[in-house]
Amino acid sequence: MKATINGVTLAYTDRGRGLPLVFLHAFPLNRTMWHPQEEALCSSFRIVTIDLRGHGESDAPLWHYSLEQAAEDVCALLHHVSITQAVFIGLSMGGYILLTLYRRHPDRVKALVLADTKPQADSPEVKQGRFEMAQTAYQQGSGAIADLMLPKLLSAETIQQRPELVQKVRRMIESTQISGIAGALMAMAGRSDSMDLLSQIGCPTQVVVGEHDVATPLSDATIMADRIPHARLAVIPGAAHLSNLERPERFNDIVRTFAGSLATA
Ligand code: MLT
Repeated sequence: MKATINGVTLAYTDRGRGLPLVFLHAFPLNRTMWHPQEEALCSSFRIVTIDLRGHGESDAPLWHYSLEQAAEDVCALLHHVSITQAVFIGLSMGGYILLTLYRRHPDRVKALVLADTKPQADSPEVKQGRFEMAQTAYQQGSGAIADLMLPKLLSAETIQQRPELVQKVRRMIESTQISGIAGALMAMAGRSDSMDLLSQIGCPTQVVVGEHDVATPLSDATIMADRIPHARLAVIPGAAHLSNLERPERFNDIVRTFAGSLATA
């Protein structure tokens, strides 16, 4: 489905009934990364997955991007589908957007799942790396971004032994427009530090991390779980950064148990 939101077309999927679970994808992927969650959870929950501005089937305007704008896009899209409050699940960049969304609209958030993400802003070195990646995207195309990103997203074991999954992730990256890649890099480089927010998060929170995640490692997940009041931490064995795709059954169990406890609370 598509809707015009804040002047751009956003694509989304809205499936199932019950407590709404809203999924925000990683960079530079799209809502199809949540297929295993959609299939497993749509019989128990209302599942909404969104192609963030710049990704998937959504518009990728050539202009300034920010995480604040992404959070406002998500809230406006949820208003469009008459969802006032939801459980939000964000992985990596999706998690950065959730922290931004919580800061601006805590009333929209029933609960948070922060997966393979971190609260800190970028260091100057990381910002420089994002600038260089945007130039690579511009000069060499999205295939070069896939080559750079895949070893950060998936474990060495997945890369060696699961060519179909590697291809699926590669296709997602290669289908992302250059304007969207550059825009999202700009948005992440400009994001605020959320360390001060953690102790103010008042909703139930589940932190999830892949055991082998090097992009947003266990140390970052532990910071969030320690500082967010009453947060729970789950480590997914054998997974790296895209823990929902590498170990979908375990990821789904964590979300099902967490969201199920809210639905019955
Ligand atoms: C992601 O998976 O969304 C990215 O690795 C996040 C980042 O580059 O910080």
